[in-house]
Amino acid sequence: MLGVNFASQDYLSLASHPAIKATAIETIERCGVHSAGSPALVGNTSYSVALERKIAEFLAMDHVVLYPTGWAAGFGVVKGLVRSADHIVMDMLAHSCLQEGAHAASTNLHLFRHLDNEYCRNILAKIRAKDKENGILVITEGLFSMDSDTPDLAVLQALCHEFNATLVVDVAHDLGCLGEDGRGHIGLQNMLGKVAIVMGSFSKTFASNGGFVACKSRAVQEYLRFYSAPATFSNALSPAQAATILKAFEIVASAEGHALRRKMLANVLSLRRELKQAGLDYYGDPSAIVCVKMGSEGLARLVSRRLIELGLVANLVEFPAVPKGAARIRMQVMANHSEENIAYAVRILATAKAEAELELDELRRIKPVKGVAA
Ligand SMILES: Cc1ncc(COP(=O)(O)O)c(C=O)c1O
Repeated sequence: MLGVNFASQDYLSLASHPAIKATAIETIERCGVHSAGSPALVGNTSYSVALERKIAEFLAMDHVVLYPTGWAAGFGVVKGLVRSADHIVMDMLAHSCLQEGAHAASTNLHLFRHLDNEYCRNILAKIRAKDKENGILVITEGLFSMDSDTPDLAVLQALCHEFNATLVVDVAHDLGCLGEDGRGHIGLQNMLGKVAIVMGSFSKTFASNGGFVACKSRAVQEYLRFYSAPATFSNALSPAQAATILKAFEIVASAEGHALRRKMLANVLSLRRELKQAGLDYYGDPSAIVCVKMGSEGLARLVSRRLIELGLVANLVEFPAVPKGAARIRMQVMANHSEENIAYAVRILATAKAEAELELDELRRIKPVKGVAA
C-alpha cells in the first residue's frame, strides 16, 4: 500500500466500473485476448467499426481512424498528413507525440508561444507571404496537461480558414470528462463538428489504451489509413479493448456519466480550495489536472521524495516536461476520490513542502549545493 493515489488518469473512475470489467471479460471469452493484425489487414472487428461510428457521432465528425495508443495517434496524424515541403505551426507546449511527429515529418516547423493566437497568426501570415502552395498543419491541445489551460479554438480555426491551413486539436485530457456533456473544450467552446481534425487518447477517461483521429474529410481518413504508419503497420486495438472503450463512451454519454463528471469537478474544486487554504498555489483552470507549484527542481525533488513516505502518490514534473524553475507536483483527480482522500492528500503535500523547505534551507546554510537552485 503506497498511499492515496492522485497519479492516475482514470478521471471518471471507469477503469474499475463493473460494466466496463464485465464487457472486457465477456469479449475476452468470445474473442480471446489477441488482435489478429493491423487495421489494414484483418485487425478490424465489428467492435472497432462500431467504436469508429460511436466516436464520429459523439464528436459530430464524419470519419474516424483508430490507433493502438494515443501517442501513435498524435505521431501518426502529423507524420501521416505532412509532406516534407509542408509547414507545421504548433503550440510550443504540445505533447511529445505531436512534437515527435512534427520533427519526423518536415523541417518547416514553427512553434508559437503557448496559447498565443496572435503569434500564431503572424507565423501563418509570414508563411503564406512566401508559400501559397504547400500545406500548413496547425496543432494545439484542448487542455494542456501540465498547465491545465486551453486555447481559444474558434480563433485558431478561423485563422486556419483565413490562411488555408488545417487545425488539429489533441483532446486527450478533456474529452469525456469536461463539460456538461463530456465533449471537453470543443463542446464548451461551441466548436463541436467545426474543428477540422480532432485527435485523442482512450487512456485517460476511456479505461483502455488506444487513440483516434476524427476528421470531416473522407480523403483525410483514407490517407491516414494507408500513409499513417501506426494505423497501417501496427496491430489494431484488440476486440476487448475496442469493446471496453465502446462501453466507456456509452457511460460517458449517459446520465451516470454526467453524474461522474459532476463528482469529478466537485472534487477538483474542493482540492483547489483546500490547497489554497494550505498556502499551496497551482496552475491553470479547473480540470482533472491540478499541478501544484514548487518552483525550483531542488525543492520539488525533496517534496516528491517525502510524498511516497507520507502516503501520497503524485507525479513530480520538471524540465524538460516543463520550463526550468517551474517544477511542480501534478495531482490528477478522479470521480471516486472522497473528501477524506482530498483532505489527506493536501495535508501530506503541505507537510512535505514545509519539511523540504527546512531541509533546503539547512543544506544552503551548510554549503551552497550544486543543482539545488532556489
Ligand atoms: C496531450 C496528450 N496527447 C497524447 C498522449 C498519449 O496518449 P497515450 O498515453 O494514451 O498513448 C498523452 C499522454 O499522456 C497526452 O497527454
